[in-house]
Amino acid sequence: MALFNVSPVETTPFDGQKPGTSGLRKKVKVFKQPNYLENFVQSTFTALTPRKVRGAALVVSGDGRYFSKDAIQIIIKMAAGNGVRRIWVGQNGLLSTPAVSAVIRERVGVDVSSRLVSGSRATGAFILTASHNPGGPNEDFGIKYNMENGGPAPEGITDQIYENTKTIKEYLTADLPDVDITAIGVTSFSGHDGQFDVEVFDSASDYVKLMKMDTAKLFCHCICMNDRLSIFDFESIQKLLTSPKFTFCYDALHGVAGAYAKRIFVEELGAQESSLLNCVPKEDFGGGHPDPNLTYAKELVSRMGLGKSNSEVEPPEFGAAADGDADRNMILGKRFFVTPSDSVSIIAANAVEAIPYFSAGLKGVARSMPTSSGLDVVAKNLNLKFFEVPTGWKFFGNLMDAGLCSICGEESFGTGSDHIREKDGIWAVLAWLSILAYKNKENLGGGELVTVEDIVRNHWATYGRHYYTRYDYENVDAGAAKELMAYLVKLQSSLSEVNDCVKPGLKLIECGDCRDDAGLELELNPGFLIVSGIRSDVSKVVHADEFEYKDPIDGSISKHQGIRYLFEDGSRLIFRLSGTGSEGATIRLYIEQYEKDPSKTGRDSQDALAPLVAVALGLSKMQEFTGRSAPTVIT
Ligand code: G6P
Ligand code: ZN
Repeated sequence: MALFNVSPVETTPFDGQKPGTSGLRKKVKVFKQPNYLENFVQSTFTALTPRKVRGAALVVSGDGRYFSKDAIQIIIKMAAGNGVRRIWVGQNGLLSTPAVSAVIRERVGVDVSSRLVSGSRATGAFILTASHNPGGPNEDFGIKYNMENGGPAPEGITDQIYENTKTIKEYLTADLPDVDITAIGVTSFSGHDGQFDVEVFDSASDYVKLMKMDTAKLFCHCICMNDRLSIFDFESIQKLLTSPKFTFCYDALHGVAGAYAKRIFVEELGAQESSLLNCVPKEDFGGGHPDPNLTYAKELVSRMGLGKSNSEVEPPEFGAAADGDADRNMILGKRFFVTPSDSVSIIAANAVEAIPYFSAGLKGVARSMPTSSGLDVVAKNLNLKFFEVPTGWKFFGNLMDAGLCSICGEESFGTGSDHIREKDGIWAVLAWLSILAYKNKENLGGGELVTVEDIVRNHWATYGRHYYTRYDYENVDAGAAKELMAYLVKLQSSLSEVNDCVKPGLKLIECGDCRDDAGLELELNPGFLIVSGIRSDVSKVVHADEFEYKDPIDGSISKHQGIRYLFEDGSRLIFRLSGTGSEGATIRLYIEQYEKDPSKTGRDSQDALAPLVAVALGLSKMQEFTGRSAPTVIT
């Protein structure tokens, strides 16, 4: 073993290396600038401090997008340069984000062999992904750091990383050769401080084991309720998937989920191979946009009989898709879309009966602020602890570590549980399959299949329905987006002004700006009811604020998390700027209306929400600020 040397390399700071909601995401061309990635990685090591880096073991992998392989080699050398002792890499650099979380949690302190300085443990992981953003030479790359609990770095660390990127002068790297990451095995090097190992391992096996194994042994600190407990009952899911009554389709959108789908759905659970769509991971996701929603998962959407499909073929009973790094999910029934907000509510409502991991009860549930209040109703009915956190999975981690939350979800197609500290796309599919298997356990032999749609409609009948839609205005001029938000922040401070805009008839004369908006709404939506000049199809706003969160565990405060307008009847309008875009700004508008009356829960969602949409567009002067007459994407 030749001895490697570590040397400092001079560098100068780059602007704009502030991690967003989920790490640093930029165009590949930006990342390819000499020292750009290196500066960010060194700033991360420095923020972690030598205590967490020297002697540590790190996972480095991602969704396999373009530039990942180069990035892995750079990070391996820098890790050796900074005193890390072991790097774990999924074969070909592939690991889904949830699998990374699982691997960190499983291997913390386990495989950190006696060669490592005593007391050291796995520090965490560099995850190489831009999640649901497209990949390829002209598209996006991303990097984020996850901590030893398997969850994304908290703001304290990401802020420190950013500070370090502004002053960085040099980084450390070792003169190692490139490591072959295509073959499973360990490559060892010798440094002045000791041995440095790179272990390439099978990308799927740790994760598959977690989904079906004895979690009590693996995570006895978080779940000790039963002696032998698996997350999912694979046997009952297998009965469902192999029943001639049930048909299934899974679309990985050429993301890393493909590396897991065949192993889990086909080899373990007996689904037909033909039920897998786009399950070969590709560096550019086949030129597509790997975001599992009704706009981008076109092939699945059409196969499921949604959209403009004219196919004669009977759609499958169940369909699901994942994003690039497989932490997001979309759940579909035959000709039926399940909103992510409904999905987490339904999983929470059925988990104890249908999923062995939760059989002893739920510790609590949580949702992000813009996610619909459907979960609140479930929590109230089932007497569960409930938390509302800002957008971003990292906020759930503290609750889970403190044993306060078992299941959580976000409107942005994220659902998960305390089995790891990331959202988990395949877990969500297995959760739904478990619920379907449970509801159909008497029906697979004879009797009518309980479908996805039946489950959702029954849920609405029990808990009421939260009509929900999200309007995204992508790549808006950043200045214009800021102005719109500043305007809304100012407006929310006066409820009477807000209500002048919401119900223009009330004080039309005092709200000149709103007069035009009201006119515009009437023109666009000639069906609106204006009774005596007062808008009667929406209720009035009773509370408005800029959402702020105080973490109940560490007391940290997160400000400016979106502007909320809460209506008397439980409806909500929320505006926030996306933290994940890489170009310009993305404005998100979330619209929600609660309907308790079971006879009114079956309407078309866009119809039911039309009055609130009109109010939102008028209130925010969306077109005036952004120049956009329509959103880029509606989900
Ligand atoms: C990532 C995070 C999610 C978050 C989402 C929000 O996917 O992991 O937790 O909900 O970003 O994205 P946005 O673009 O709305 O900031
Ligand atoms: Zn993702």
